[in-house]
Amino acid sequence: MFGTETYIERRRRLQADVKSGLILLLGNDESPMNYPDNPYRFRQDSTFGYFFGLDFSGLAGVIDIDEQRECVFGNDVTVDEIIWMGPQPALKEKCGEIGVKNSAAFDKLGGILKDALEKGRTIHILPQYRGDTILKIAGLLEIPVARIGDFVSEALTKAVVAQRSVKSEEEIREIEAALDIAYEMQTTAMKLAKPGVYEREVAGAMEGIALSRGGRLSFPTIFSVHGETLHNHYHGNLMKAGDIAVNDSGAETAMGYASDITRTIPISGKFSQRQKEIYSIVFDAQRKALEAVAPGVEFRNVHRLAGKILVSGLKDLGLVKGDIDEAVDAGVHTLFFQCGLGHMMGLDVHDMEGLGEDYVGYTDTIKRNPEFGWRSLRLGKALEPGYVITVEPGIYFIPELIERWRAENKCAQFIDYNAVEEYKDFGGVRIEDDVLVTESGRRELGKPIPRTIDEVEQACNNQ
Ligand code: GLY
Ligand code: MN
Repeated sequence: MFGTETYIERRRRLQADVKSGLILLLGNDESPMNYPDNPYRFRQDSTFGYFFGLDFSGLAGVIDIDEQRECVFGNDVTVDEIIWMGPQPALKEKCGEIGVKNSAAFDKLGGILKDALEKGRTIHILPQYRGDTILKIAGLLEIPVARIGDFVSEALTKAVVAQRSVKSEEEIREIEAALDIAYEMQTTAMKLAKPGVYEREVAGAMEGIALSRGGRLSFPTIFSVHGETLHNHYHGNLMKAGDIAVNDSGAETAMGYASDITRTIPISGKFSQRQKEIYSIVFDAQRKALEAVAPGVEFRNVHRLAGKILVSGLKDLGLVKGDIDEAVDAGVHTLFFQCGLGHMMGLDVHDMEGLGEDYVGYTDTIKRNPEFGWRSLRLGKALEPGYVITVEPGIYFIPELIERWRAENKCAQFIDYNAVEEYKDFGGVRIEDDVLVTESGRRELGKPIPRTIDEVEQACNNQ
């Protein structure tokens, strides 16, 4: 946890931004795997954790802006529970650490909300992503689940997004701690990934590193020789010489701050000539995209820049033809780069995505482009100092997509489909790093992880 003042100041600013009414923030409950006493490892809701800091299940925080009163609702453990769980600090004590003066049993919350509703006061809640929390809120407000949306507050959502988007120095230190773990995960994978090894052995070793450092994975590991599948969570392939594996993985710290790194690894320890050529294009796109990151720059333009560099490199290889700008305007890059260049990162690996991607990545004037490829870009708006974002270009040869486009003769004036056909068994290459937008430009976060062809090959051969 950060110091008490951090949480007091965050809630003070939230009140100032939302201005009136009563803010209700729900913490998460335990989530059962197969029966109630066998839950997944507890993960606190990121926004509740951001404003209330407490990493326990079954809590709710109320900020009554009009009455200038804050209260955390939850239940102290009973002696019966202590027998199984051990002693726990009392809720009142926990609240002291975050500067909240009032605490109450959870069953008092319904009455407070009912009273507020009867007085015609506004209750602000956030968009929800967990079924159990939705049911809980419906129960507390005594409304049908279908009416939850009436209480979802745009003012609160925008205020939370504005505040969480700009990372403080102490948050950046946490993100860099998560990146220290990712460094170890990535370099260990480079050593372990060999012909005759199963992907799951590498994925398991990486998860072990995250757990042993007191954190956990920030998202399910993507480690696959089929890197052309963007989010490939299958780890059952036996790796062989000549394969390349996309390793998109990261850790979060005990406080929940994430890292998100991708490297592409040659399983035999050396890239083939063809792999080097594609890797170099992606590397070039990432380097130039990183260099373009600066305050005031619209990230959709950085995405376009990356698309242009990818298309230009593929033109040099003979897969693409014609004018680069016209090709990108026609969406040619999306045959090879079907996703977005990056996203915000913080307490969630895709930061605040549960609050609505468009609130996080777009504005009233900079709207998401609905075209294929572009619509997967989670962040399009102008960057601001304090944003932490990922920059993750890639080239992916997806046989089914190539066949579909070819059958439709799509963008045929720009694509040499006979040449592309030769790459249908290639797989994919992605390179991803995490970067802080500063007043003067950017700072790549974390200690440098092998990234050039030489560095990656060396790390793969460094036993
Ligand atoms: N690291 C997975 C993603 O950014 O989607
Ligand atoms: Mn990412």
